[in-house]
Amino acid sequence: MSIVPSAGESRGRVTVPEILSRKLIRPGGSPFTERKISSLTAYDFPTARLVDEAGVDIVLVGDSLAMAVLGYENTLPITLDEMLHHTRAVRRGVRRALLVADMPFGTYQNGAAEAVRNATRFVKEAGAEAVKIEGGERRMEIVARLVEAEIPVMGHIGLTPQSLNSLGGFRVQGRTAEAAEALVRDAQALAAAGAFSIVLESVPRELGARITESVPVPIIGIGAGPDCDGQVLVLSDLLGLTEGHVPKFARRYADLRHTIHEAIVHFVQDVHKGAFPADAECYHFPAQGRETPRPRA
Ligand code: KIV
Repeated sequence: MSIVPSAGESRGRVTVPEILSRKLIRPGGSPFTERKISSLTAYDFPTARLVDEAGVDIVLVGDSLAMAVLGYENTLPITLDEMLHHTRAVRRGVRRALLVADMPFGTYQNGAAEAVRNATRFVKEAGAEAVKIEGGERRMEIVARLVEAEIPVMGHIGLTPQSLNSLGGFRVQGRTAEAAEALVRDAQALAAAGAFSIVLESVPRELGARITESVPVPIIGIGAGPDCDGQVLVLSDLLGLTEGHVPKFARRYADLRHTIHEAIVHFVQDVHKGAFPADAECYHFPAQGRETPRPRA
């Protein structure tokens, strides 16, 4: 089986300019999207294949990988090397969608030069087509420097999980007039700095609509209501694989935790009963009989 995209398969690939072009401007100046953007996380080769084959526009190797796959308590401990390792696996599985990788905590907050150096690794060593960084106005310089270095940037504002310690927990953001204004400014600053799209997480639906109308680049919502230009979800939430609390915006489209649990329990029972494997699941000696051939004396 080949995992290298053939010329035919790479036709119709989603690109950064194509994502940007989905946001149109009405004659009066107000932006809108005709074709909404779908995005999901993927963390390895099989999930990348599944998500890509299903027609998702943007595959995000989110740092939610830390919790969803690696068992960390939050996204802060995941390292650059861990993110690169998983991005490479996802790259091998994605043929059509745009591949974006999350820059983990501590790899871009300490200045533009370090951010460019680390982001370059995602493009050069792991095949990412863009990187995502968290934060608004205060990341303008970093975004501009990445874009100047030919690395497209997706912003992320609202609830930014890497700010867990400063936010004091995961809460809906932008609930006061001041906080809402600050988020509008954050989105505008990121767009002005050259971000090609912005993830907007956990804000009131009305603010999601307002921010979407206020910037010329696509806003991809997660818990930001239906008026955004697109929607992103964490794959494990969508599939029902997440253990414990799941935010209310994360619609569960399947209950794979239950399905997988049942399958494994069934296997264990079959082994204990001697019901697995069945004769049809065994190899046999050829035709003549099923006696174990003995060496000639
Ligand atoms: O890490 C992640 O999965 C994300 C999405 C929630 C947007 O940042």
